[in-house]
Amino acid sequence: MADFIDNWWWQDYEELTSTNDEALKLSINPPSPFYIVTAKRQTSGRGRRGRSWIGLEGNLFMSLSLPLENKDIGALVFIVSLVLLETIKFFDEKALVQLKWPNDVLLNNHKISGILLEKGERGYIIAGIGVNIASAPKISESVLYPTSCLAEAGIKISRTEFLFAYLKHFNRRIALWKSKGFCAIRDLWLEHAKGLNEEIKVNLPDTTKEGIFRGVDENGILLLEQDGTIEKIYAGDVFFPQRIKE
Ligand code: BTN
Repeated sequence: MADFIDNWWWQDYEELTSTNDEALKLSINPPSPFYIVTAKRQTSGRGRRGRSWIGLEGNLFMSLSLPLENKDIGALVFIVSLVLLETIKFFDEKALVQLKWPNDVLLNNHKISGILLEKGERGYIIAGIGVNIASAPKISESVLYPTSCLAEAGIKISRTEFLFAYLKHFNRRIALWKSKGFCAIRDLWLEHAKGLNEEIKVNLPDTTKEGIFRGVDENGILLLEQDGTIEKIYAGDVFFPQRIKE
């Protein structure tokens, strides 16, 4: 049975192929302007770039669905990831949580969540979010991005506790974005950005660039300084050089 959490229509399923699949279907005839689909298990969860997302029970799989203009989609990625960080910190204010451009959330330097935005019908954007609550599935690229979960870090909460807290913070940040614009969100995001003003490597489809991470512009584009010149990076995978422990 569907429920409402604040202004969000919410339906929780025992099992789905992917919460994004269900949310995409619902966008043909939305049950409410803002709606969420969650599932206890996913059998064909998907990640970015054709990767899969393992759907073990105990973790959170949710799809937030809202109507959005194309020009605002870039902002949504920053809001979704900032709010993931704020929700983890709500449960443990001392947790070491950092943001990695464009949309990764790291807990103790490990990937804790994944975000996949897809376009639905009628101008809907589906923000598919997976959060490792109880277990940390090893993903194919685990060597590059080791994974963790909240339980491993001592944060013992359920997927629904996380969901309820997430929505409260999400509504607050959407309101900030509407009243103050993207730069207010960007500035909060940068406060938690890993590697700001430090050397980073960015893997692009056909090359790798190295430089100093100088933040993101008013459109969320990464600013990379190379030999005193700022280059804009529109898409890529960011890596941080390992520091040698003394
Ligand atoms: C990534 O590659 O990091 C993104 C992973 C996104 C996973 C979530 S889980 C809920 C939603 N349903 C899916 O099939 N994928 C997203």
